[in-house]
Amino acid sequence: MKKIMVTGALGQIGSELIMKLRSEYGADNVLATDIRHVASNVTESGPFEILDVTDAKGMHKIAQDFGADTMMHMAALLSATAEKNPVFAWNLNMGGLLNALEVSRELNLQFFTPSSIGAFGPSTPKKNTPQDTLQRPTTMYGVNKVSGELLCDYYYERFGLDTRGVRFPGLISNVAKPGGGTTDYAVDIYYKALEEGKYTSYIAEGTYMDMMYMPDALQAIVDLLEADPAKLKHRNAFNVTAMSFEPSQIAAAIQKEIPTFEIAYEVDPVRQAIADSWPDAIDPSAAIEEWGFKAKYDLDKMTVDMLEKLKVKLGK
Ligand code: SER
Repeated sequence: MKKIMVTGALGQIGSELIMKLRSEYGADNVLATDIRHVASNVTESGPFEILDVTDAKGMHKIAQDFGADTMMHMAALLSATAEKNPVFAWNLNMGGLLNALEVSRELNLQFFTPSSIGAFGPSTPKKNTPQDTLQRPTTMYGVNKVSGELLCDYYYERFGLDTRGVRFPGLISNVAKPGGGTTDYAVDIYYKALEEGKYTSYIAEGTYMDMMYMPDALQAIVDLLEADPAKLKHRNAFNVTAMSFEPSQIAAAIQKEIPTFEIAYEVDPVRQAIADSWPDAIDPSAAIEEWGFKAKYDLDKMTVDMLEKLKVKLGK
């Protein structure tokens, strides 16, 4: 049975990942850590510790005391926030990752951390972006993600650490809202559709990005964690995606459920530039071949589920 320690447990992915892992592996076997304590089902349903990921000694002690055999490092700043304070982003994203890798090396833990479509840049092929390709990102977030992928490869090659990771696309969820990402519009649009019947997009019409519904993302993490290491040719990080769309297409999917819904555009140049530097659609075939990655939700199926769940959440 696994004993899993998770950093950034109250973040966009962490807050749902904890519940998924606790249902798979038992509540007591999943330790949630975050820099803050906010009473929630994450803090109430199993063990929780306060941890600043830049504190290497604190991280080591918590992992050792818990008897962890797996480290899932989720604490990081997203792309738009990282652009606002690039030095802080470097220190948090890279410092936190290096500490998590070192603790995992010292205690011999299996290791998972997410990379992103942000690890690609303007010179990357935009369509059907291959697993192994040019990665020259132009954002601090992207620089962090590529460096992180290289560090994970390095720890695998140099120390034999069992590192695993995926390049997530924009993740869409009805539980925790993302904060400070470029793909967040594809979450906000559902809230505004129910709250106001209209949405003003900060991403321009025609801008394609990869996306995935959170249940598929969580299942992908568990599947990769459980994958036979002998079959993994890539250690960090696998392209994974479930769909690629642009704002008018998600609006059209919402209109099938809410015919009066309207979309307008007021482009934010910072986030638009980030989106323009990312691929339109990545190729997940290495993940499919090496560990059987699959996604169940396409745009229409996700839209029906999102609106159904959000109606209950928002009391609509
Ligand atoms: N959702 C992330 C972001 O927009 C991409 O990794 O920053």
